[in-house]
Amino acid sequence: MLTSYNLKMPGAVYSGENALDQITGLIGDEVKQIAVFTDQGIAGAGLLELPLERIRKTGKKTVIFDDLAAEPTYEEAQAAADRFKSSGADFIVAVGGGSVMDAAKLASVLATDAYGVKELLDNPGLAEKSVRTLMIPTTAGTGAEATPNAIVAVPEKELKVGIVNDHMIADYVILDAAMTKKLPAGIAAPTGVDALCHAIECFTSNKKNPFSDLYALQAFEMIMKHIEKACLDPDALEEKQNMLLASFYAGVAITASGTTAVHALSYPLGGKYHIPHGVSNAMLLAPVMRFNEPVCRHLFAEAYDRLRPEYDNDRPVPGAEANEEQKSGWIVKRMEEIVERLGIPTSLKEFGIGDSDLDSLVEAGMGVQRLLGNNMRPVTEEDARRLYLEIM
Ligand SMILES: NC(=O)c1ccc[n+]([C@@H]2O[C@H](COP(=O)([O-])OP(=O)(O)OC[C@H]3O[C@@H](n4cnc5c(N)ncnc54)[C@H](O)[C@@H]3O)[C@@H](O)[C@H]2O)c1
Ligand SMILES: [Zn+2]
Repeated sequence: MLTSYNLKMPGAVYSGENALDQITGLIGDEVKQIAVFTDQGIAGAGLLELPLERIRKTGKKTVIFDDLAAEPTYEEAQAAADRFKSSGADFIVAVGGGSVMDAAKLASVLATDAYGVKELLDNPGLAEKSVRTLMIPTTAGTGAEATPNAIVAVPEKELKVGIVNDHMIADYVILDAAMTKKLPAGIAAPTGVDALCHAIECFTSNKKNPFSDLYALQAFEMIMKHIEKACLDPDALEEKQNMLLASFYAGVAITASGTTAVHALSYPLGGKYHIPHGVSNAMLLAPVMRFNEPVCRHLFAEAYDRLRPEYDNDRPVPGAEANEEQKSGWIVKRMEEIVERLGIPTSLKEFGIGDSDLDSLVEAGMGVQRLLGNNMRPVTEEDARRLYLEIM
């Protein structure tokens, strides 16, 4: 039987050197006032000036919201949307990581009194876009510039929840490594591994399809090749640009497919314990991939063939004649090695989480059925417990 699938994308994407120069021309004559969404980390790093100098060239009135919260709760996202609404601006430029872009995406559908973020949590179908958005990611990254998702923390549920609606897909995207050049390794590494998770989860998801495979596998190859240099070498602009493009591709893969058990089990770690999204995913990546390996072996082997690695720490790797098990084992091990080499925390103990938290973690993680249902190997409550125990 033929299956159907679809692909939704931002209206226009500009990538590469001087892509930021496109900003001025993108903002049409009809726009009266521009709202710039960003946060203190980005403003403090002196990054805002790069897009702002191009925005000023339009001569349009501009309002700047530079104090948006990291990994916002739904109430913080609502407060940002309210301030935006009362400003009267009719175009949004988001300059930031996933947190800023998600707040901007929500604001773009909230210029109405008919519903708020709380209502969208229960009924995301209500969202309707009323202003156009330009996303300029400063991490590489969440891929939020590509997706129809906005993730907010829901403190009452001790969870993070994804609101998904096509109206939140960006109208324009600019991928310029000038914006990630100074990204500290402590942020570049976990956000880079988040993109790696998006790629491999979408490629091994029950929702995988020809569209998502195209983007997921390309993203996977680029990230595996470039992530270490991009994160650890401040001058590696080419690798940083590759990471920006790859995290965008991985975001497109999410739009066409969906993430799986890494993201599902990660949500309570962010929602209740405020572990940054990339860090909690990085912790779960190897345990979940080892758990999935018996069922996804052929797919990991396919990823290996795509990567065609020759050396592993100066040792030759299994050649093209290697069997699926050897290829697949190498891929899983290599992902684990990347997390270790980038120095991302691998134990929940570092965040003060111990055995007494296990039951509530399992219960909350098992509640994320939207994503657990995408995992090719079904995850039982016992499996979730074992996976959390592995990272304790
Ligand atoms: N919408 C989606 O499709 C999607 C996908 C994955 C994750 N997310 C969400 O995105 C959020 C995480 O986003 P993130 O990982 O990009 O981090 P972030 O946006 O939370 O930023 C993390 C920190 O890095 C700083 N920062 C960002 N760019 C910088 C730069 N270039 N230089 C210096 N400092 C910089 C910020 O100021 C902030 O303090 C989470 O809420 C997560 O759930 C959304
Ligand atoms: Zn993610």
